[in-house]
Amino acid sequence: MKVLVVGSGGREHALCWKLAQSPLLAKLWCAPGNPGIAAVAECVPLAATAIPALVAFARDNGVGLVVAGPEAPLTLGLADACEAAGIPCFGPVAAAARLEGSKDFFKQVANAAGAPTARHATFDDAAAARAHIRAQGAPIVVKADGLAAGKGVVVATTVAEAEDAITEMMERGAHGEAGRRVVVEEFLDGEEVSFFALCDGARAIALAAAQDHKRVGEGDTGPNTGGMGAYSPAPAFTPALEAQVMQTCIQPVLAELERRGAPFRGVLFAGLMLTAEGPKLLEFNVRFGDPECQALMLRLESDLLPALLAAARGDLSGISLDWSAEPSLLVVMAAAGYPGPPRAGTRIGGLAAAAAVPGVQVFHAGTRAGEDGAVLAAGGRVLGIGARAPTLRAARDVAYAAVDALDWPDGFCRRDIGWRALG
Ligand code: AMP
Ligand code: GLY
Repeated sequence: MKVLVVGSGGREHALCWKLAQSPLLAKLWCAPGNPGIAAVAECVPLAATAIPALVAFARDNGVGLVVAGPEAPLTLGLADACEAAGIPCFGPVAAAARLEGSKDFFKQVANAAGAPTARHATFDDAAAARAHIRAQGAPIVVKADGLAAGKGVVVATTVAEAEDAITEMMERGAHGEAGRRVVVEEFLDGEEVSFFALCDGARAIALAAAQDHKRVGEGDTGPNTGGMGAYSPAPAFTPALEAQVMQTCIQPVLAELERRGAPFRGVLFAGLMLTAEGPKLLEFNVRFGDPECQALMLRLESDLLPALLAAARGDLSGISLDWSAEPSLLVVMAAAGYPGPPRAGTRIGGLAAAAAVPGVQVFHAGTRAGEDGAVLAAGGRVLGIGARAPTLRAARDVAYAAVDALDWPDGFCRRDIGWRALG
């Protein structure tokens, strides 16, 4: 089997790392990839959003499975174009990827499916949105309807803050077209969990759960990021809760999408709030989480390739996956400035020393090759440094030992990844 992975982040490095271990793999490409991925796959200089070029490459090279890492190619129709070319694609068609591409669509589907989620109202008119906010009071949550690079959500603690968010999004165009329509929803209190399920259009298999660390600063302070670290499993997400979420969220939403003629093949990423009233959906993403995927791949014992292929082909019967009982933990190293504009092009030293720490796995997330073999920072989140170990504490110690072996004055990380589980 020849496989093309699309993307260039830590998630794609983890997927390539795991796929490269498959005895069924004949050839692995990654477009566009990064210098870390280049150690396990051949990188192809095609952008993740260059849909026709990606499909032409897959067709010309006999690719039997395309694996979409990020959401952007999916919302642009990568899976649709693969389907038209007769190539199985892991990741949903655009009509189903709307689940992530539009918060309003997500709400419509969740409500039609009877899946528990925050009460909401959708607005195209700023004055109406403000009136609703004043009537509801704070805390309240304002979300840009469309994709806004993870920055389209304001959890407002005061009415004024929520009204400001309306002004920014709807009137000042802070997120362009993505914020002209907003979803205003009830504030949910609880612990957050990322849960993943493999779907073939009709059936779903639970993968595993992880906990992300969204804020940039220790103690969950500062602005939101794409995620500064993760660990898996999430102790708060018990097997009973997992069964409940499969039954009340995943299965009904799959059925609803199928009913709408948009069957979902790929991985459903449920962002959940574990509230006092039970788990509620914050959102669905149509791809693996990043960094969660890196933590998950460190725990997956089974061959990933047949599972992704079965989901892409629409038949997961006969697939079951084994997970290590050992926990994994992953620390993100980011470039100074992140989540604002990160400083680019600084030289990352000590990568060999970090990789030599026993039990560690270093994933590249935002790197590029410099002259003379140097690895340079080329993004906000630059490295994912993780380990699996008999205890979460041991996994954490391995990861931070590797962090400390790096020689990269420009990089930073949170020192408290895992604190909820470790205390
Ligand atoms: P989302 O992109 O919808 O997952 O929102 C980004 C982050 O905002 C989430 O990870 C939560 O931390 C927070 N958030 C979103 N919706 C709510 C809500 N209804 N109540 C409380 N926090 C929320
Ligand atoms: N880490 C959260 C996400 O991938 O959206």
